Amino acid sequence: MLIGNWKMNLNETQSLALAEKLRTKFKKWKGPAIAVAPSFLYLKQVKEILAKTPVVLAGQDVAPTEKGSATGEISGRMLYEIGCRYAIVGHSERRIMLGETNEMILRKINLCYNNGLVPIVCVGETEEQKLAGQTASVLVEQLQSALAKVNGLPENDLIIAYEPVWAVNTEQYLDPAELCSIRLLVKRTIVNIFSESFYNEKVRFIYGGSVSSINAKDYWAADCSDGLLVGAASLDADEFYFIASAGLS
Ligand code: PGA
Repeated sequence: MLIGNWKMNLNETQSLALAEKLRTKFKKWKGPAIAVAPSFLYLKQVKEILAKTPVVLAGQDVAPTEKGSATGEISGRMLYEIGCRYAIVGHSERRIMLGETNEMILRKINLCYNNGLVPIVCVGETEEQKLAGQTASVLVEQLQSALAKVNGLPENDLIIAYEPVWAVNTEQYLDPAELCSIRLLVKRTIVNIFSESFYNEKVRFIYGGSVSSINAKDYWAADCSDGLLVGAASLDADEFYFIASAGLS
Protein backbone atom coordinates (compact mmCIF):
# COMPACT_ATOMS: atom_id res chain seq x y z
CA MET A 1 0.00 0.00 0.00
CA LEU A 2 0.99 3.61 -0.41
CA ILE A 3 0.09 6.42 2.00
CA GLY A 4 0.64 10.12 1.39
CA ASN A 5 1.06 12.26 4.48
CA TRP A 6 0.44 15.87 3.54
CA LYS A 7 1.33 17.10 7.05
CA MET A 8 0.78 20.88 7.50
CA ASN A 9 2.08 21.77 4.06
CA LEU A 10 -0.92 22.78 2.01
CA ASN A 11 -3.60 25.43 2.43
CA GLU A 12 -7.17 24.86 1.32
CA THR A 13 -6.69 25.81 -2.34
CA GLN A 14 -3.55 23.72 -2.62
CA SER A 15 -5.10 20.70 -0.88
CA LEU A 16 -8.14 20.72 -3.14
CA ALA A 17 -6.02 21.20 -6.26
CA LEU A 18 -3.85 18.22 -5.29
CA ALA A 19 -6.95 16.12 -4.62
CA GLU A 20 -8.31 17.05 -8.07
CA LYS A 21 -5.10 15.94 -9.73
CA LEU A 22 -5.11 12.67 -7.77
CA ARG A 23 -8.70 12.09 -8.84
CA THR A 24 -7.70 12.24 -12.48
CA LYS A 25 -4.59 10.12 -12.03
CA PHE A 26 -6.02 7.39 -9.81
CA LYS A 27 -9.50 7.15 -11.33
CA LYS A 28 -8.85 3.75 -12.86
CA TRP A 29 -6.09 2.66 -10.49
CA LYS A 30 -5.75 -1.08 -10.04
CA GLY A 31 -2.48 -1.26 -8.11
CA PRO A 32 -1.63 -1.21 -4.39
CA ALA A 33 -4.10 0.40 -1.94
CA ILE A 34 -3.67 4.18 -1.78
CA ALA A 35 -4.50 6.52 1.11
CA VAL A 36 -3.83 10.19 1.72
CA ALA A 37 -3.77 12.14 4.96
CA PRO A 38 -4.68 15.79 4.34
CA SER A 39 -5.08 18.35 7.11
CA PHE A 40 -8.14 17.57 9.27
CA LEU A 41 -9.66 20.83 8.03
CA TYR A 42 -9.98 19.63 4.46
CA LEU A 43 -10.88 15.96 4.99
CA LYS A 44 -14.49 16.46 4.00
CA GLN A 45 -13.74 18.30 0.78
CA VAL A 46 -10.93 15.94 -0.19
CA LYS A 47 -13.20 12.99 0.50
CA GLU A 48 -15.82 14.40 -1.87
CA ILE A 49 -13.27 14.97 -4.62
CA LEU A 50 -11.82 11.46 -4.30
CA ALA A 51 -15.18 9.74 -3.84
CA LYS A 52 -15.15 7.88 -7.14
CA THR A 53 -11.53 6.78 -6.90
CA PRO A 54 -9.94 3.97 -4.89
CA VAL A 55 -8.00 6.55 -2.83
CA VAL A 56 -9.12 6.51 0.80
CA LEU A 57 -8.49 8.88 3.67
CA ALA A 58 -6.29 8.72 6.74
CA GLY A 59 -6.20 11.05 9.73
CA GLN A 60 -2.77 12.50 10.48
CA ASP A 61 -3.40 11.79 14.15
CA VAL A 62 -6.21 10.83 16.52
CA ALA A 63 -7.10 12.01 20.03
CA PRO A 64 -5.94 9.90 22.99
CA THR A 65 -9.41 10.14 24.54
CA GLU A 66 -12.79 8.96 23.29
CA LYS A 67 -14.74 12.21 23.61
CA GLY A 68 -15.54 15.18 25.81
CA SER A 69 -13.24 17.80 27.29
CA ALA A 70 -10.18 17.60 25.08
CA THR A 71 -9.69 21.04 23.56
CA GLY A 72 -8.37 21.01 20.04
CA GLU A 73 -8.49 17.24 19.61
CA ILE A 74 -10.17 15.17 16.88
CA SER A 75 -11.65 11.86 18.00
CA GLY A 76 -11.51 8.47 16.32
CA ARG A 77 -15.25 8.59 15.87
CA MET A 78 -15.09 11.98 14.16
CA LEU A 79 -12.43 10.66 11.81
CA TYR A 80 -14.44 7.59 10.97
CA GLU A 81 -17.63 9.56 10.41
CA ILE A 82 -15.94 11.97 8.03
CA GLY A 83 -14.67 9.03 5.98
CA CYS A 84 -11.22 8.12 7.29
CA ARG A 85 -10.35 4.45 7.42
CA TYR A 86 -6.83 4.85 8.79
CA ALA A 87 -5.13 7.09 11.34
CA ILE A 88 -1.42 7.79 11.70
CA VAL A 89 -0.36 7.28 15.31
CA GLY A 90 2.94 8.17 16.98
CA HIS A 91 4.54 10.01 14.10
CA SER A 92 8.05 11.08 15.09
CA GLU A 93 7.19 14.73 14.48
CA ARG A 94 4.49 14.47 17.14
CA ARG A 95 6.69 12.47 19.49
CA ILE A 96 9.39 15.15 19.20
CA MET A 97 7.42 18.41 18.81
CA LEU A 98 4.54 17.59 21.13
CA GLY A 99 6.09 15.13 23.55
CA GLU A 100 3.75 12.33 22.57
CA THR A 101 4.51 9.36 24.83
CA ASN A 102 4.27 5.61 24.26
CA GLU A 103 1.43 5.59 26.78
CA MET A 104 -0.55 8.10 24.68
CA ILE A 105 0.23 6.11 21.57
CA LEU A 106 -1.20 2.97 23.16
CA ARG A 107 -4.40 4.87 24.03
CA LYS A 108 -4.65 6.15 20.48
CA ILE A 109 -4.27 2.66 19.04
CA ASN A 110 -7.06 1.36 21.28
CA LEU A 111 -9.27 4.27 20.22
CA CYS A 112 -8.58 3.56 16.56
CA TYR A 113 -9.80 0.01 17.09
CA ASN A 114 -12.84 1.15 19.09
CA ASN A 115 -13.83 3.33 16.17
CA GLY A 116 -13.18 1.12 13.16
CA LEU A 117 -9.92 2.76 12.12
CA VAL A 118 -6.76 0.95 11.13
CA PRO A 119 -3.85 2.48 13.06
CA ILE A 120 -0.67 3.28 11.16
CA VAL A 121 1.79 3.08 14.04
CA CYS A 122 5.05 4.90 13.38
CA VAL A 123 8.24 3.65 14.98
CA GLY A 124 11.85 4.50 14.34
CA GLU A 125 15.18 5.38 15.88
CA THR A 126 16.92 8.75 15.94
CA GLU A 127 20.32 9.27 14.35
CA GLU A 128 21.93 9.22 17.78
CA GLN A 129 20.30 5.90 18.62
CA LYS A 130 21.32 4.45 15.28
CA LEU A 131 24.94 5.49 15.77
CA ALA A 132 24.88 3.96 19.25
CA GLY A 133 23.71 0.66 17.77
CA GLN A 134 20.35 0.90 19.53
CA THR A 135 18.01 0.56 16.55
CA ALA A 136 16.72 -2.89 17.48
CA SER A 137 16.20 -2.14 21.15
CA VAL A 138 14.43 1.15 20.38
CA LEU A 139 12.06 -0.52 17.93
CA VAL A 140 11.25 -3.40 20.27
CA GLU A 141 10.60 -0.96 23.13
CA GLN A 142 8.35 1.25 20.97
CA LEU A 143 6.39 -1.73 19.66
CA GLN A 144 5.99 -3.38 23.04
CA SER A 145 4.85 -0.27 24.81
CA ALA A 146 2.46 0.57 22.00
CA LEU A 147 1.00 -2.88 21.49
CA ALA A 148 1.42 -5.12 24.54
CA LYS A 149 -1.55 -3.55 26.31
CA VAL A 150 -3.87 -3.25 23.34
CA ASN A 151 -7.33 -4.39 24.44
CA GLY A 152 -7.68 -7.97 23.24
CA LEU A 153 -6.64 -9.24 19.84
CA PRO A 154 -7.44 -6.50 17.32
CA GLU A 155 -10.05 -7.47 14.75
CA ASN A 156 -8.96 -4.72 12.45
CA ASP A 157 -5.62 -4.59 10.62
CA LEU A 158 -2.48 -3.09 12.05
CA ILE A 159 0.02 -1.16 9.99
CA ILE A 160 3.52 -0.65 11.32
CA ALA A 161 5.36 2.19 9.60
CA TYR A 162 9.09 2.00 10.14
CA GLU A 163 10.24 5.58 9.82
CA PRO A 164 13.80 6.16 11.00
CA VAL A 165 13.75 9.68 12.43
CA TRP A 166 17.01 10.52 10.66
CA ALA A 167 15.37 9.74 7.32
CA VAL A 168 12.14 11.72 7.76
CA ASN A 169 12.20 14.85 5.64
CA THR A 170 15.98 14.82 5.32
CA GLU A 171 16.69 13.38 1.86
CA GLN A 172 18.65 10.62 3.59
CA TYR A 173 16.99 7.26 3.31
CA LEU A 174 17.45 3.70 4.40
CA ASP A 175 19.11 1.28 2.01
CA PRO A 176 16.07 -0.69 0.75
CA ALA A 177 17.90 -3.99 1.34
CA GLU A 178 18.24 -3.16 5.06
CA LEU A 179 14.48 -3.17 5.43
CA CYS A 180 14.31 -6.97 5.39
CA SER A 181 16.09 -7.36 8.73
CA ILE A 182 13.93 -4.64 10.28
CA ARG A 183 10.81 -6.38 9.01
CA LEU A 184 11.96 -9.60 10.62
CA LEU A 185 12.55 -7.85 13.94
CA VAL A 186 9.12 -6.22 13.79
CA LYS A 187 7.53 -9.55 12.90
CA ARG A 188 9.23 -11.38 15.79
CA THR A 189 8.19 -8.70 18.25
CA ILE A 190 4.57 -8.67 17.13
CA VAL A 191 4.35 -12.47 17.01
CA ASN A 192 5.52 -12.48 20.63
CA ILE A 193 2.85 -9.99 21.62
CA PHE A 194 -0.03 -11.46 19.60
CA SER A 195 0.55 -14.54 17.43
CA GLU A 196 1.98 -15.68 14.14
CA SER A 197 -1.44 -15.97 12.56
CA PHE A 198 -2.34 -12.45 13.70
CA TYR A 199 0.83 -11.14 12.07
CA ASN A 200 0.25 -13.02 8.83
CA GLU A 201 -3.39 -12.09 8.53
CA LYS A 202 -3.56 -8.56 9.89
CA VAL A 203 -0.22 -6.81 9.94
CA ARG A 204 1.37 -4.81 7.17
CA PHE A 205 4.88 -3.43 7.47
CA ILE A 206 5.62 -0.25 5.54
CA TYR A 207 8.59 2.10 5.24
CA GLY A 208 8.70 5.89 5.39
CA GLY A 209 11.53 8.42 5.26
CA SER A 210 12.46 10.48 2.19
CA VAL A 211 10.80 8.12 -0.26
CA SER A 212 10.67 9.76 -3.69
CA SER A 213 10.72 8.94 -7.39
CA ILE A 214 14.50 8.49 -7.00
CA ASN A 215 14.26 5.47 -4.70
CA ALA A 216 10.67 4.19 -4.91
CA LYS A 217 11.42 1.52 -7.48
CA ASP A 218 14.22 0.14 -5.30
CA TYR A 219 11.92 -0.09 -2.28
CA TRP A 220 9.24 -1.94 -4.21
CA ALA A 221 11.84 -4.18 -5.86
CA ALA A 222 13.57 -5.01 -2.55
CA ASP A 223 10.25 -6.54 -1.51
CA CYS A 224 11.10 -6.10 2.17
CA SER A 225 7.93 -4.17 2.98
CA ASP A 226 4.23 -4.10 2.19
CA GLY A 227 4.28 -0.49 1.17
CA LEU A 228 5.48 3.06 1.66
CA LEU A 229 4.55 6.12 3.70
CA VAL A 230 5.47 9.26 1.81
CA GLY A 231 5.63 12.83 3.08
CA ALA A 232 7.16 15.55 0.90
CA ALA A 233 6.93 13.57 -2.33
CA SER A 234 3.19 13.05 -1.84
CA LEU A 235 2.56 16.78 -2.29
CA ASP A 236 3.12 16.53 -6.02
CA ALA A 237 0.53 14.43 -7.85
CA ASP A 238 2.91 13.39 -10.64
CA GLU A 239 5.58 12.35 -8.17
CA PHE A 240 3.10 10.47 -5.99
CA TYR A 241 1.66 8.70 -9.00
CA PHE A 242 5.13 7.81 -10.19
CA ILE A 243 5.92 6.29 -6.77
CA ALA A 244 2.69 4.28 -6.88
CA SER A 245 3.29 3.11 -10.45
CA ALA A 246 6.86 2.09 -9.65
CA GLY A 247 5.27 -0.66 -7.53
CA LEU A 248 3.44 -2.20 -10.46
CA SER A 249 5.30 -5.14 -11.85
P1 PGA B 1 9.15 12.37 4.13
O1 PGA B 1 8.12 12.13 5.35
O2 PGA B 1 8.75 11.43 3.03
O3 PGA B 1 8.99 13.81 3.77
O4 PGA B 1 10.52 12.04 4.67
C1 PGA B 1 7.70 10.84 5.67
C2 PGA B 1 6.77 10.90 6.85
O5 PGA B 1 6.96 11.74 7.72
O6 PGA B 1 5.82 10.12 6.93
